[in-house]
Amino acid sequence: MAQIISGNIIARTIRQEVQSDVATYRKGKGRNPGLNLLLVGDNPASELYVKFKAKDCAEVGITSVIQRLPVTASQAEVLRCIEEWNANPDVHGILVQLPLPRHINEHVVLRHIDPAKDVDGFHPENAGKLLIGLPGFIPCTPAGVVEMLHRSGINPAGKHVAVVGRSNIVGKPLAMLLAQKRKGGNATVTMCHTGTSDLAHHTLRADILVAAAGVPEMITNQHVQPGAVVIDVGINRVQMHDGGSKVVGDVHFASVEPLASAITPVPGGVGPMTRAMLLVNTMFAAKGTFLSESR
Ligand code: GUN
Repeated sequence: MAQIISGNIIARTIRQEVQSDVATYRKGKGRNPGLNLLLVGDNPASELYVKFKAKDCAEVGITSVIQRLPVTASQAEVLRCIEEWNANPDVHGILVQLPLPRHINEHVVLRHIDPAKDVDGFHPENAGKLLIGLPGFIPCTPAGVVEMLHRSGINPAGKHVAVVGRSNIVGKPLAMLLAQKRKGGNATVTMCHTGTSDLAHHTLRADILVAAAGVPEMITNQHVQPGAVVIDVGINRVQMHDGGSKVVGDVHFASVEPLASAITPVPGGVGPMTRAMLLVNTMFAAKGTFLSESR
């Protein structure tokens, strides 16, 4: 039986830590940390994510503002909103919910955010800092995965980690973090993706397997070495035979769990960690420090 790594429980602890950090900050500065969220269009999943993020902020005492723009908003309007927030000292963190409507260039928008307020860690300056090991904002999901391993007593140092997925949001930054010569890193990392031939050849050698490909239940017992730690980043809504739907990860939990030494569930695994790390990053933005300096 695998140890079930509960993101819900670890994230709750992190929220409590942030809440106490916020109280100290408020005592010193006489104001709350502030996070502004921009939602363009009416993607229902994005709407839900943004609401969750605002609720999390309220719970720990971070002031959040959700700015909604219609799907017809121009790129110039989006950039103007970011400029206003960049210049506003009460706005410590800025988050533009992705995906953006197709007529808006995501790269241009993300580059427009002040890197010191870029709590998502998506600005090229922060992505570059992560690559070369300088302090900067680390994207919330990879930061959450590393934190989750750390707080579960799993040290990746010297281990072989296979990351399945190469997105800018998860796979690439996570591979960089785990390979870095620092606490929580020092792993030997293999990055697998849709162009990898014989995926199982690589994943079967992994001491820690991270599934972040966005393909429902693609990792089965055929991919997992007995005793491996399995981290499931996937959040996929799938249709069921009865016409309903459910959320599954990228890991086929029922077949993998008996093999693994530890595994994260979906839901209740990496998802809550991502949300908690946004609060941590917002606190760092307010304090003007960076996550990677704190370790
Ligand atoms: N869309 C999916 N994941 C994310 C995320 O982590 N941040 C933002 N801003 N948008 C997303």
